[in-house]
Amino acid sequence: MFNFFKRGTNRPQLPYTTEVHCHILPGIDDGARDVAHSISLIHQMKEWGVKKIVATPHVTEASFENTPQTIDAAQAQLRQEIDLDELGLTLCYSAEYRLDDNFLGILERGEMIPMPGNHILIENSYLQPFWDIKSLIFNLQMKGYSPILAHPERYAYYYQEKEIYKELHEQGCEFQINILSLAGYYNKHAKEVAEWLISKQMVDYLGSDLHNRNHVMCIDKYLSGRDFSKHMRNIALKNDYL
Ligand SMILES: [Fe+2]
Repeated sequence: MFNFFKRGTNRPQLPYTTEVHCHILPGIDDGARDVAHSISLIHQMKEWGVKKIVATPHVTEASFENTPQTIDAAQAQLRQEIDLDELGLTLCYSAEYRLDDNFLGILERGEMIPMPGNHILIENSYLQPFWDIKSLIFNLQMKGYSPILAHPERYAYYYQEKEIYKELHEQGCEFQINILSLAGYYNKHAKEVAEWLISKQMVDYLGSDLHNRNHVMCIDKYLSGRDFSKHMRNIALKNDYL
């Protein structure tokens, strides 16, 4: 059982020290808009006990077509303005890959930036699932990647056919649930499905999916509340093995 509060402070702590999903790189997606904003979000993560951050900017067709070059430039710009060593933080980067035609091109050209352990954070569109997600997951696995599906609890089209969760998970696709879902930030359905996934022991990773100050305030409140201790009773996270 981890400590909910950092020794000697009253700052609530996240149940992991490795953040696997966040949008804290400056100016390249709908997360931190500039370096100052990035730094403020990073300081907040440190307060919550995070020691290692895997930044995962969106790579989405038409809206955020980030490349290894744009992502690397953003992290380099950030590093010029913050001393991560002094803060005791490690920062690396990957991406949150939307399953779309842009992603298929990236996969074909071998331009993916995997997380440590060759993990790849993937997400479906919120409107419809990728047309053949099972084959795509299989292809990723054949290429040596370990896919992690970001916030499966947020895809409303899966709510009426929950069997798909079991099928994908049994196929070896790991699941990353958003803390914000458990906090009720999006809607009650996402929270209920996140709780259901915990009850079925299908939650491998938790992530903040941190974009902005509103997310910070919501997570801060959740970490100090009763729901948090209840949710964490039956969960075995892999974040800190990454
Ligand atoms: Fe995200």
